[in-house]
Amino acid sequence: MTQTEITNEVFSVTKARLDFPALHQEIHGRPLVYLDNAATTHKPKSVIDAIDRFYSRDNSNVHRGVHYLSQKATGQYERSRQIVQRFIHAADEREIIFTSGATESVNLVAQTFGRKFVHAGDEILISEMEHHSNIVPWQILCEQSGAKLKVIPFNQRGEIDLNGYAELLNPRVKLVGIVHLSNTLGTINPVAEMIRLAHSQNIPVLVDGAQSVAHLPVDVQSLDADFFVFSGHKIFGPTGVGVLYGKSHLLKTLPPYQGGGDMIHSVTFEKTIYADLPHKFEAGTPNIAGVIGLGAALEYLQRWDLREIAAYEDELVNTATKALKQIDGLTIIGEAEHKAGVVSFVMENIHPHDIGTILDMEGVAVRTGHHCTQPIMDHYKIPATTRVSFAMYNHLAEIDVLISALKKAIEVFR
Ligand code: ALA
Repeated sequence: MTQTEITNEVFSVTKARLDFPALHQEIHGRPLVYLDNAATTHKPKSVIDAIDRFYSRDNSNVHRGVHYLSQKATGQYERSRQIVQRFIHAADEREIIFTSGATESVNLVAQTFGRKFVHAGDEILISEMEHHSNIVPWQILCEQSGAKLKVIPFNQRGEIDLNGYAELLNPRVKLVGIVHLSNTLGTINPVAEMIRLAHSQNIPVLVDGAQSVAHLPVDVQSLDADFFVFSGHKIFGPTGVGVLYGKSHLLKTLPPYQGGGDMIHSVTFEKTIYADLPHKFEAGTPNIAGVIGLGAALEYLQRWDLREIAAYEDELVNTATKALKQIDGLTIIGEAEHKAGVVSFVMENIHPHDIGTILDMEGVAVRTGHHCTQPIMDHYKIPATTRVSFAMYNHLAEIDVLISALKKAIEVFR
């Protein structure tokens, strides 16, 4: 199906579930209730088929051959770039760089933007609720450059302190990195406002969209984001592929990230001239099947009305929050006014890992631990949470199964 043939169907969870083969299995003799979508989502048949088709029939390298299959692979690979461009409303397809995931995308910006623009005495500003992948690359850069990492605080509800943020903006800040939707708290951050404030001081902003892109409509131009990163596998695509969006005028000023094939215009031992965007940042043979799979995933999602999906997911989060709050001794971690996709909690006298194990025996998959956000755990002075994270294919009835399974955990451990 081509992009222009895609029409939005009225969203139906019953219908959507049929598209995901992995959802229809039993775990420990119970129907799978998959509530670990912030870690990774399952894949629709159309994505699995697109990857299968590529390897079974079309497999060839991209941008290298005049032969039929290479041309075909290149066409499919570049078509995915256009699909991503349209999905996040980028102005130009050359602003879409394929990477191995959100983590590599952040590292790419840290190491290229950093090399060019960040020096001793400068500051990088990130928030206290970042995933480790939007902390450690900046720490590495700070170690290399002598810059300082500064941290925007959040309040007990899990909301960014906008006044604190505004006070931290100053001419020494060379870049702000902010998570759009927290993988642990579920907070939707006011990134448009934060970008506006940063831009008033000419500071570029990188938005970590790893979680938001599957739950919220993203328009990088209306956000005015300078960089926006996400992974394929959290939006129904394959693992090992992701996206860096960057404004072209910024990307053009940056040095390459890695050297190798496909990122050059010409090479001699005296001098190499780099390729233009986007290839300058895509050294070596890319994850061709992954990129094609990601394109198929976004096309799958666009089959539905994304606003209906967002409204349905709100219902999932609100229903789960209400039901969880009825459980004695359970505390929700992260009660921001604007949330999506995620509900984290702790329970008196039961360690999250024990909860996770009992839930697993009931067929319920959740993530327990620090969720690669140890500073959030430190903020709340807890070692870990149990995290329920939804996708559009979760059924409201699955929340009932979760609650019954939690009651079993209470029987066992209290
Ligand atoms: N970042 C992923 C999560 O939150 C792995 O689980």
